[in-house]
Amino acid sequence: MHGLPTNTGGSSSVGRAWASQAQGRGFEPRLPLRTNLFILFPLYMAKIRCIGVLTSGGDAPGMNAAIRAVTRSAICNGFKVKAIYRGYEGLMKGEVKTFTTEDVSGIIQTGGTILRTARAAEFRTPEGRKRAYDTLIKEGIDALIVIGGNGSLTGAMLLAEEYDFPCIGLPGTIDNDLYGTDNTIGYDTTLNTIMDCVDKIRDTANSHERIFFVEVMGRDAGFLAQNSAIAAGAEVAIIPEDTTGADQLIEFMERGIRKSKRSCIVIVSESPKCGALHYADRVNKEYPEFDVRVSILGHLQRGGRPSALDRVLASRVGVGAINALVQGQRNVMVGIRNHQIVYVPFIEAVQKRKNMDPQLIKVLNELSI
Ligand code: F6P
Repeated sequence: MHGLPTNTGGSSSVGRAWASQAQGRGFEPRLPLRTNLFILFPLYMAKIRCIGVLTSGGDAPGMNAAIRAVTRSAICNGFKVKAIYRGYEGLMKGEVKTFTTEDVSGIIQTGGTILRTARAAEFRTPEGRKRAYDTLIKEGIDALIVIGGNGSLTGAMLLAEEYDFPCIGLPGTIDNDLYGTDNTIGYDTTLNTIMDCVDKIRDTANSHERIFFVEVMGRDAGFLAQNSAIAAGAEVAIIPEDTTGADQLIEFMERGIRKSKRSCIVIVSESPKCGALHYADRVNKEYPEFDVRVSILGHLQRGGRPSALDRVLASRVGVGAINALVQGQRNVMVGIRNHQIVYVPFIEAVQKRKNMDPQLIKVLNELSI
């Protein structure tokens, strides 16, 4: 037993499930108050001595800064730290090592993750999560901090729910698609990487008077595409949040490029069916007078030294995760909203859609005339 979740996620289904589970276990105030407190106190205060930390899913610049922050803040607050290698894969297999402050020296400036990462299909099954839980018990880990994106935090939520195990999530993904936090760890660095690449592509696009379709990552979110388009002065962004993106492209082709510009950059958010190749093909067929090229940036977007903003974000939420455990918070993602640390119930972080501010679409449209 690892104590009760203190954050039941408001009216969420998980919150309701936890509430009814608690009632089923006799936690309603049926006994006299003093007896109740006597029973509840040790459960709430189930002591956390050892904290596990892992990175999972796609790596993101700043994950190392987060590992460093979690490790050092945990040790500072009197906890033991066990690092788990290769995400949930390593947790299921028992790839665990005790970490000291020295283990996280000299990593704040490095990309990738020193803990390695994986996309663990088996962890999506109840059997996989049982194996992971067995490792946690065997290793004497009392709480788990997961640094990752949507899939990774969903995994943490399920583990927490099924085994009543305290888990805290840190938003680590270049996609910036987690609800409840303004930015995710890695997003700012990747935005800068894309901007640098597009600046370079612009030189050759101008020289040859070509149209370039540049495909960027983001899974099914367009934050990277929209904001890199604004930052790099691109003419168009085609993003999943704006269904008129394709029409905008045609409109732009007809009124914009012919009049004043001989070259243009279109940023396209990755998509299995409608990626950069799809649009380039379309323009090639419908406007054969233009010289069209495609550049798919790919995994270079995930590498590189983290930006200052990502290092600070990772450090703040890493310390915030330990604070959360000290305060008795469980099963929340630590984010930053309006410059303040926030604790977002897992169910909201992974299930609510983070909306694109329509202002961003207007900004690009007005500035690309
Ligand atoms: O979630 C991060 C991300 O880089 C997405 O933008 C992209 O769709 C995906 O991961 C690629 O995953 P993989 O590296 O497993 O091909």
